[in-house]
Amino acid sequence: MQGDVKVIGGSAHPDLTADICKHLDVEPSRTEVHRFSNENMMVQIQENVREQDVFVVQPSCAPVSDGIVELLITIDALKHASASRITAVVPYFPYARSDKKDRPRISITARLMADLLETAGANRVLTMNLHSPQLQGFFRIPVDQLSGEPILCDYLARHRDLEDAVLVAGDVGEAKDLGRYASRLDLPLAIVDKRRDGDDEMPRPTHLVGDVEGKIALIVDDEIASGGTMIEAARFVLERGAAAVEAAAVHPILSGRAIARIRESPIRSLVVTDTVPVPADKRIDKITVLSVAPLFAAAIRAIHCGDSVSALFR
Ligand code: R5P
Repeated sequence: MQGDVKVIGGSAHPDLTADICKHLDVEPSRTEVHRFSNENMMVQIQENVREQDVFVVQPSCAPVSDGIVELLITIDALKHASASRITAVVPYFPYARSDKKDRPRISITARLMADLLETAGANRVLTMNLHSPQLQGFFRIPVDQLSGEPILCDYLARHRDLEDAVLVAGDVGEAKDLGRYASRLDLPLAIVDKRRDGDDEMPRPTHLVGDVEGKIALIVDDEIASGGTMIEAARFVLERGAAAVEAAAVHPILSGRAIARIRESPIRSLVVTDTVPVPADKRIDKITVLSVAPLFAAAIRAIHCGDSVSALFR
């Protein structure tokens, strides 16, 4: 690669940073994160970054608030260390679901996160599957948004019998994205109409648009958090005659009781990516984890060399 590129991994996902670095054939840059007894944090970049192109890898995962603060402090430290360009590599964007003011007196927190990154000194953002398209418009700096769709589709095409399958969107919001999966895999599409009462983690499917009878239902979502959307959709399509349920999601948040619920659920298999860490205790037999590192490495290389990234979006 031309010139110097530096990749710094925050504490959130060191394995992903190491994988990305392997694909780029660079060593992760050294940093030290120090937590004081008053819970303040200090990040020190332990090598020269003056006039260099720096990428900071930090997806949003538990502990979410600590991860955000560490990312902001790291970017600020790089700015004051005279890095020439700082890219926040945030495979899963924090507070992505808080992207609208759908209740009185609440924050549009995803917008706040965008503002904070810019204020800290990020010059650009590299991310994957933002929860909604408007999120990209929350930034005034360039945002490159990769998609997990080619990775998941490639896996599904190779490892699942799609002969008699139907793609299922777990809610109406997901239906548009799923149109692209349907074209890529040449499959029909069905949509579950899901209702949520407040913030509960047991969304209620109410209607089904499309036909699942006798077919393998392949439920795909941008993220799986508590698992409620996917598991309830699975039960719903089985009640309506689906022969079996397989599932896929880009961001495996797998919070709360998600793993136990998935284990007990009728979902036969779940394939996800590693935009956030999936620790060993969450890697149950049903779950397959695919790496996004080659794609992020390719995007970092293209950004650094000033090449087009758009081919990678597809
Ligand atoms: C919702 O709009 C998203 O596409 C996902 O369906 C949702 O974030 C999944 O959350 P959970 O697993 O908690 O139902």
